[in-house]
Amino acid sequence: MQITVKVNGQEYTHDVEPRLLLVHYLRDTLRLTGTHWGCDTSNCGVCVVHLDGVPVKSCTVLAVMADGHEVTTVEGLANGAELDPVQQGFAACHGLQCGFCTPGMMMTARWLLDQRPDPSEEDIREAISGQLCRCTGYENIVRSIRWAAEHSAPAEAAPVETQQEVTA
Ligand code: FES
Ligand code: FES
Repeated sequence: MQITVKVNGQEYTHDVEPRLLLVHYLRDTLRLTGTHWGCDTSNCGVCVVHLDGVPVKSCTVLAVMADGHEVTTVEGLANGAELDPVQQGFAACHGLQCGFCTPGMMMTARWLLDQRPDPSEEDIREAISGQLCRCTGYENIVRSIRWAAEHSAPAEAAPVETQQEVTA
């Protein structure tokens, strides 16, 4: 099947197998390897990207389901050379060790802050509850997201969207 997907602002058209997962389309076809693939059970959340602004586990989405839609990956978080506050927060608060979970964590964090610019610790823990980190014990991830909230320019909260899969 032929699909056309806008990824990080750029439109791509490819012929893909109907069974191809979005995570593999991003990694293997587009070579956007910042999105990780870590399990076969939809448990780990390292594959989270935004699909039309909503975080999804890209291992649970077929590439053909993204046809005509917009995807943002971790490569699209920064604004040119300027890192997103979430990226800055993970660096400032040591929110990663091996880094394997980090792209997915940051994509969920970005979504959370778009919805709720001043999240409580409970909000943060709930948002990332569908994602696993084997290294940090989560404390510094929570601190990183709080740091990002405190260092972001005030903005109007986006309309509340349904968070798909992330907390499943
Ligand atoms: Fe583990 Fe997607 S790769 S949830
Ligand atoms: Fe290693 Fe989270 S930093 S899995």
